[in-house]
Amino acid sequence: MSTANVDAILQNIGSEEYFPISYEELEQGAKQKMSAGAFGYVRSGAGGEETLRKNEDSFKKLSIVPRVLSDVAGLDTSINLFGRIYPHPLLLAPVGMLKMADEQADLAVAKAAAEHQIPVVLSTVASYSMEEVAAAAKGPKWFQLYWSNNEEVSFSMVKRAEEAGYEAIVLTVDTVMMGWRQEDMRNRFSPLKLGYGKANYETDPVFLNSLGSQDSDSIIQGILDNIHHPGLNWKHVAELKKRTSLPLLLKGILHPEDAKLAVANGIDGLIVSNHGGRQLDGVISAIDALPHVVESVNGSVPVLIDSGIRRGSDVVKALALGAAAVLIGRPFVYGLAVGGQNGVEKVLENFIQETKVSISLSGVSSIKDLPSLKIVRA
Ligand SMILES: Cc1cc2nc3c(=O)[nH]c(=O)nc-3n(C[C@H](O)[C@H](O)[C@H](O)COP(=O)(O)O)c2cc1C
Repeated sequence: MSTANVDAILQNIGSEEYFPISYEELEQGAKQKMSAGAFGYVRSGAGGEETLRKNEDSFKKLSIVPRVLSDVAGLDTSINLFGRIYPHPLLLAPVGMLKMADEQADLAVAKAAAEHQIPVVLSTVASYSMEEVAAAAKGPKWFQLYWSNNEEVSFSMVKRAEEAGYEAIVLTVDTVMMGWRQEDMRNRFSPLKLGYGKANYETDPVFLNSLGSQDSDSIIQGILDNIHHPGLNWKHVAELKKRTSLPLLLKGILHPEDAKLAVANGIDGLIVSNHGGRQLDGVISAIDALPHVVESVNGSVPVLIDSGIRRGSDVVKALALGAAAVLIGRPFVYGLAVGGQNGVEKVLENFIQETKVSISLSGVSSIKDLPSLKIVRA
């Protein structure tokens, strides 16, 4: 482990072309590559961006109290989720409309993640269809579902995901309507309207059959009509659970009572998330919500987290507070914008290495021991 770590640092130091290392540099790099509208779409949060800022600030308010002299030579970062072992406690969060960042979009991301056996969670509003992504990359893949008003479209997409080899379904529950995105209004930018998120819809027979006409404008309008689904409730969740044999997770849980209801409805896993501060502004940061959700489910299902994870020490804090794994969001999108597939690989390599260093320097040598690590507010 120690040698591998030195190698990773030297690789970065010795490489001929400088690639941004920190999140701040990645963001700046992406800003230079992307249109103002696209960059603003990725960077921004909803409302006054209170929650966007809070996500990162809350991590900074937590401190690790490390142990020393505990022999961390045999570091094991593997995790087990739904019976499958993954080498790292990391997944890639569902991010839609990635053609905004790079033409190869989800294909590039899935190939980069496959290099490390990191699961990608493909968005409903991906730029390539779930079948195209499955054909391009053989690594582990989960499918994220945005509920459709026409629920048969939801069931059809889930069936396609099963057939294409996706291994879990993630239902996003904090997006029954779009958050109040001021930056996009300012930039007059809607990637959905530009067609960046239509791939899974224009390949779905049930969706297509539901349209009066199948021209491009009708497809976009059909997506907009389906994606606004304020009626979503626990009955839909229970029905979805019946319709799939895959593990079903809910993404966007912040309240411990919702976590309990999810377990009561047979849900297999939770993702504590506030959608990266893009939905309801003013909500609790994900990392502050995590311990309460973990406590409320009492080990019955794995609890994952995203929103504000920027570096290896954030991963350590989340796992120490009871997360089974973390999802990386904006950092990989910026990596994609800066350097395509290679850029995503760079971001992941640095995340993996910094996570390993951070776990080891905390005095812990396996993920399962991380919950005993002391975290304080200081
Ligand atoms: C540009 C962008 C697009 C996103 N698209 C989706 C999506 O299609 N489905 C979804 O469930 N979450 C989506 N999210 C939310 C992410 O899955 C994740 O919750 C969020 O990025 C975590 O916050 P962070 O990036 O600040 O760490 C998106 C986030 C961004 C930044």
